[in-house]
Amino acid sequence: MSFCIAIDGPAAAGKGTVSRAVAEEFGFAHLDTGLLYRATGAKTFEGLSPIEAAKTLTAEDLARADLRTADAGQAASRVAAIPEVREALIDFQRAFARRTGGAVLDGRDIGTVICPDAEVKLYITATDDIRAKRRFDELTAGGAETTFDHVLADLRERDARDSARAAAPLKPAEDAKIIDTSDMTIDAAVAQVVAFIKAQRA
Ligand code: CDP
Ligand code: CDP
Repeated sequence: MSFCIAIDGPAAAGKGTVSRAVAEEFGFAHLDTGLLYRATGAKTFEGLSPIEAAKTLTAEDLARADLRTADAGQAASRVAAIPEVREALIDFQRAFARRTGGAVLDGRDIGTVICPDAEVKLYITATDDIRAKRRFDELTAGGAETTFDHVLADLRERDARDSARAAAPLKPAEDAKIIDTSDMTIDAAVAQVVAFIKAQRA
């Protein structure tokens, strides 16, 4: 039996962290769909067109070490606005969403486009400042040299582009449960999400 949990939200809201914990709790598979766009964007650095890059994406591309950089995030956000790029990545995501045994997918359009009939839809968000602080801490802990202001501007630019695009824009599905984690620890956010999913499954 399949069971799809759709988790959307803006950059660095904690989607991935919550998704991984939820997948572990319920024994579901997890797909970070942002990685598909990051890997597509990164392939354009080598001169491929965005559409060609999306159509030829391999497991090896998804394992590249440079996908978490701000540059890969910006490239992802630019290629993600191209309808043919999104189209090329749909079948893989839909098959993953409906795999036997349950799936958690996180991204921007999971509840609206990829899995509109998801059994659970969540939209995880937090204030710009808090998201930028979390991403700044994460990047600097990994050795990146950046500033808080730079990270904040980067997230705002991507969120604005992702929200304004015509193809699958960032927005909560009408039936999504919105969770603002601004004042929550990771454990508190995970506990709230797990309790919500258990109530939905019962
Ligand atoms: O997947 P997404 O970009 O939405 O965010 P993430 O990568 O899961 O989280 C971004 C950073 O915020 C990570 O370093 C998390 O550990 C941290 N985080 C946090 O401090 N508090 C939360 N409630 C959720 C995430
Ligand atoms: O971790 P963070 O939230 O910063 O970014 P991500 O989830 O890895 O996504 C990188 C970029 O890919 C986003 O800014 C979006 O432009 C794009 N994306 C998308 O368009 N649709 C998705 N389902 C996932 C990501």
